Order: sequence, then C-alpha cells, then structure tokens
Amino acid sequence: MSAATLPDTLTQQLRAIGQSHLVGHAATLDGASHDAFLAQLESFDLISLGNYIDEYGSSYTPPPPPASIEPASCYTLGGDWDVNTYRAKGEELIRAGKIACFTVAGGQGSRLGYDGPKGCFATSCVNGKPLFQLFAESIFKAQEKYGCVIPWAIMTSPLNHDATVGFFESNDCFGLDRGQIMFFEQGVMPSFDLATGRLLLAEPGVLATNPDGHGGAYKALKVSGALDAMRAKGVEQLSYFQVDNPHARIIDPVFFGLHAFAPDSSGQMSSKMVAKASWDEKVGVFCSVNGRTEIIEYSDLPEDLAKRTGANGKLAFNAGSIAIHAISLAFIEQMVSDPKYALPFHRAHKKVAFVDPTSGESLSPDAPNAIKLERFVFDGIKLADQSIVVETDRVEEFAPVKNATGADSIGSSKLLQTERAARWLESIGVSIPRKADGSVDAVIEISPLSAIEPGDLEAIDLPTAIEPGSTVVL
Ligand code: UTP
Repeated sequence: MSAATLPDTLTQQLRAIGQSHLVGHAATLDGASHDAFLAQLESFDLISLGNYIDEYGSSYTPPPPPASIEPASCYTLGGDWDVNTYRAKGEELIRAGKIACFTVAGGQGSRLGYDGPKGCFATSCVNGKPLFQLFAESIFKAQEKYGCVIPWAIMTSPLNHDATVGFFESNDCFGLDRGQIMFFEQGVMPSFDLATGRLLLAEPGVLATNPDGHGGAYKALKVSGALDAMRAKGVEQLSYFQVDNPHARIIDPVFFGLHAFAPDSSGQMSSKMVAKASWDEKVGVFCSVNGRTEIIEYSDLPEDLAKRTGANGKLAFNAGSIAIHAISLAFIEQMVSDPKYALPFHRAHKKVAFVDPTSGESLSPDAPNAIKLERFVFDGIKLADQSIVVETDRVEEFAPVKNATGADSIGSSKLLQTERAARWLESIGVSIPRKADGSVDAVIEISPLSAIEPGDLEAIDLPTAIEPGSTVVL
C-alpha cells in the first residue's frame, strides 16, 4: 500500500503542518490498521492542531500576568447575607428537578497509582466504599429528601469508559436507576514532541493522545447529547464536582440559591472556595481581574501577592478553589457554540513513550520529551457576565484523594472523613472522644444514606457518646 492511499487533502494538510513523517508512516500500514490510522487522523481538526503546535511548542512564551490582580469578593461563611432565604430558593430548584449532578472522571489518576478508574477506589474510612458509591448514595438520599429525580452525568475518557460503566452496572448503579445516569467520553488531544513539533505514535498506526482536560467537559457534554438529554428532562443547572473529593456536597441548596438568585450572579457559573491553608498552598486562587472573577493558578500568582495580608492579618488572596461549581446549561451551550468563548489550552511538559515511525522501535524517554495540551473547566468563570464565589468550610467539603501517601492522600482523606462525622455528631449533642491534640479518638463513617448534612442525623437513632478507640458506622 502506498502513501497515495491517504486522501490527497489529508496528505497535503499533514505536510502543511509539518507532519510528513505520518504520511510516510501511513504507507507502511495495511488493511485495517491503515483504515484505523486514517480514521484517527480525520478525527482531528488538523489545521487547528498545527496552530496549537506552533503556539505551544518550543517557542512558547507564557502570557504575562494581568497588570492588576485584586482578591475576588466572596460570600463568606457567617457573612452578611441570608442563608435561610437562599437555602429555600435552592430547595425549590432541587424539588423542581432543575439541578443535575455532573462528575468529571476522565483523569488518568497517575498520582494515586490505582489500576482502574479513580471513582472505583475504596475510599470511605471504615467500609471502604468506592467514591462512585458515595456520590450515588448522596444522590439517592437527596432524591428521598426533596422528592425528585436528580440526573447524573459522568464524564469518562476513552481509557476508562468501559471499566466505569461496567463498574456501575455490576453494582446495580448503587440503587439509582440506570436511566438517570449518563456516561459519556471526553475528547483526546494528540501529544507532540517538544523539540520537533512532530505528533508521536503510541504504537504503529496509532497517535499518542491524552484526555483533553476537565475543560473538555463542555464540548463533550454537547457532542455526546448529554446536554440536550438533560435539558429535555427540565434540568437548568449542573452541580459540577471532581471524582476524587468524597466530601463534595453535591446537592447544596444554599449554593444553588445564591448561584441562581444572588443579585451579583449572572447564574452562569459560580464556585466554592475555602480559606487557603498557607500562602503557598498549591490551589488556584479566586481573583478579580478588570472587574471579572477568575482563578489564577498558584504557580501564576506573583509571590508578593500570594503572601500579602490584609488589616485583619489574613491572606489577602485567601480564596482557594476546591473545584466545585454551579454551571447553567444555557452557559455551556453558549460556550460551545460561540468561538469567542473558546477556552485556551494549558500545556504540560511530560514524558511520553513513543514508537519511532521509521524503525518501529519503542522508546521510553527518561526526561520530559513531549507536550500534552489540556483545557480547564475553571477557565469558563471569566467568560461569565458575573460570577460569584461562596466560602465553605474545608473539613466539610474538601477531602481530596490525589496521592497514594502524604498530603491529599487516602490517609489524609480518611482522617478528614472521621473529623467531619465527629463534627456533625457533636453539632447534635453526641459526645466525641478526642485526644490531647484535638483529633478524634475513634474512626467514624456516616453513610450518605443516613445523612448528607448534619440535620439529617436527627432522624436516626444515635448513641449519646462514641466510645474511645471504637470504630463506628452510622
Ligand atoms: P486531576 O488534575 O487531579 O488529574 O483531575 P487526574 O488525571 O485525575 O490525576 P493525576 O494528575 O494523573 O494524578 C481533577 C479531576 O478532573 C478529572 C479527573 O478525573 C478528576 O476528577 N479530569 C482530569 C478529567 O475528567 N479529564 C481530564 O482530562 C483530566
């Protein structure tokens, strides 16, 4: 088979964007592998890809930081706003079926090192319930409380889609209806060699690709039909959260009440924040740039600003992102259909194993060799007309499972799970044993089927005290 077997226009496009090596490589393939390679090449907009390679390749220059960065204003905990009014408004939206859950679960989870979709990882502190089960049970409980059906969209990637769907189906969707859950795959982007700008081959006839980032969610929601399916069910707003945070309060009436009804919210995209643990904590920070709210990554926030303190001695740039957002379907539709809302790419310089297109030799570089391009969900914030930020308590809503050990690991998450359970119990009068350093002298798991917020505990039989050293499941 010869290179002529690639359509002429494709051959010309590949040459025009500096990828002649792929034309030559195609000529070495035959039959099904040639057809599959052709289909993969045709799945990308090669002209745009060539532009991205030029922009993010070896001559990349990062954009300068904005000239003026101010802290974003926030609805602070205990601040001068009426929680109960917004809670009631949010509850109305939930009861009316206008809110759906949306989990991004397409990541590779490389830091955790777990061999499977991260959502299947055993996470609850006593029973080891997987993350997906904790979210499913939270939805189940919320449906019971509010008398409604809460659709759930889950974004996977081509690398973990089948395993994710299979996991739900073999567990009877943890009590939810199969029909209320929409699984869809996110897109991928080809990785390219930094020095030459050449697209890499993962194996003969297959380009090396990576999931296109959680920001790929907007397009994937549309392309997959999930957006239209949710709209047909009457959904107006999405509760967005990441798969690795078992504490995300995924149905939060106060947050949605504010998002939809606060006078300074356009109801397009709102976010939750926690006070940063230290000036150099590695979380994005909510800022105001030219009057618009946006997240600036920790690595992009100038050090003098990150360290600045206000009159109260607290960090001025204190609002750390925990990747929880409320996003309207109308805003997503606007972002995916109007090119002026196109999200930028973020580039990562990584090690990517590849096959030499000429010799067929497999190569595993021991230093970063390639560029991966990803889009980030939070870049949608600055496109919203008015985007609000709502403070939440760190223990209440942030117990991420990112790493195998140390900070943000399964170990730290389990300690936070017990701490949150203890606080919920203390808030309704149950006595909790604590050690001299204040930590809980027990391991306590509260099933989401029992409670998704402290007030729910009032409906169940509870001990008056937890025994020191005990393991408790409620
Ligand atoms: P992370 O940034 O923690 O990445 O994703 P990751 O791939 O899960 O883990 P590492 O960095 O390889 O260890 C944050 C959230 O965004 C989702 C992840 O599944 C997680 O819920 N995500 C990330 C996607 O859905 N798609 C992506 O392409 C990237």
